[in-house]
Amino acid sequence: MNAPVNMCLAGKGQDDKRAKVRRCEEAVVTVGYLCVMNQELWTYEPDIRRAWTPPAWLYTDQEVWRWMAADVFGTSWQYVADSQDVLLPGMCRPHTMNEGIAPEPVVAVRGADDVVRVLSNVCTHRAAVVVDAPCRAKELRCRYHGRRFGLDGRFVAMPSFGDVEGFPTAADDLAALEVGQWGGMVMAAVKPTVPFTAWIDGLDERLRHLPWAAMAPDTTRNRDYVVRANWALYVENYLEGFHIPFVHPGLNDVLNATDYDTILLPHGVLQIGVARGNEGVFELPTGHPDSGKAVAAWYYWLFPNIMVNVYRWGLSVNIVEPMAIDRTRVRYRTYVWDANELGQGAGADLDRVEREDGDIVESVQRGLRGSIYWRGRYSPSKETGTHHFHGLLHRALSHRLR
Ligand code: FES
Ligand SMILES: [Fe+2]
Repeated sequence: MNAPVNMCLAGKGQDDKRAKVRRCEEAVVTVGYLCVMNQELWTYEPDIRRAWTPPAWLYTDQEVWRWMAADVFGTSWQYVADSQDVLLPGMCRPHTMNEGIAPEPVVAVRGADDVVRVLSNVCTHRAAVVVDAPCRAKELRCRYHGRRFGLDGRFVAMPSFGDVEGFPTAADDLAALEVGQWGGMVMAAVKPTVPFTAWIDGLDERLRHLPWAAMAPDTTRNRDYVVRANWALYVENYLEGFHIPFVHPGLNDVLNATDYDTILLPHGVLQIGVARGNEGVFELPTGHPDSGKAVAAWYYWLFPNIMVNVYRWGLSVNIVEPMAIDRTRVRYRTYVWDANELGQGAGADLDRVEREDGDIVESVQRGLRGSIYWRGRYSPSKETGTHHFHGLLHRALSHRLR
């Protein structure tokens, strides 16, 4: 039973690609697609010069999609609300985390003690959603049978439950998720594999000098885009500037592709966009890690799906939400600290750049539908960010791949 698998692993040249696919098809027939394809055929090579990109099934296989729901999105930090949504005690903001892949109804609440919490928004009686819309309240009340909770999630009261034995217990409280706040956003995780501070850490060092106090969300500039492609294709495209001269002629006029810098972080990637001239660049304080560079933008990505693009005018945060195996919603959220800078430099025409990216990523998804492509190689100088993403993804799924 293992022979066809070994043959698939052994074949790496273009010449034997067709034969390899055929052998793998034989393996599918022999022992079943998933147990062979998913467990045996994706090995991650840390040396990019020797590495191959992931096999096509990573983006097209429904079983892998379920693994990602549990092991990537179910364990990661996700956007829940803007800090302004819960500015005052009693303010509540419901949200469904990972709506299209691992839906988790939650509600961000600022308590009477001024602490921001993210609570499960599922009633502990019979699972109705407790808070349907943003509100300001003294306590949370389920509209189904009237169970009440404090703003800290603690069970308060329930009609007609006087005779229930062993009630209430902690299981009747709304569960509190782990919470972190950064740059005007409230983030939460159900079962985080990484502490928030470790996850967000890479963002602070270069950005401390920016005028955070002046920053405000600009919801008129928020946009949602739907891309007909797997979420991981969208992310891996974001993580390389290799395609900029080919796909984004307008952006290429502004950025110097030769000096485009990629720095690997423990839980993400930083790309530094360097301007062609000295216009529209950041003024950096003495001792800044990028002193001497004409920085037009910092592009941060945090595993698995949060992108923080830092421009002179403020932040454009992209949240990449998987909706189906071949459909992704990308939410652009905008936070401005200097409106005079809007419309200039690398952050000038985000809508156009987004459409160009969406278009090329959809073409990759179409390419993966074919039976011929198996996997490819990386450019060691241009695709380190994409390779790093694949490494983090492989690590998250590693127990499925043994
Ligand atoms: S489901 Fe909430 S009170 Fe019954
Ligand atoms: Fe792009």
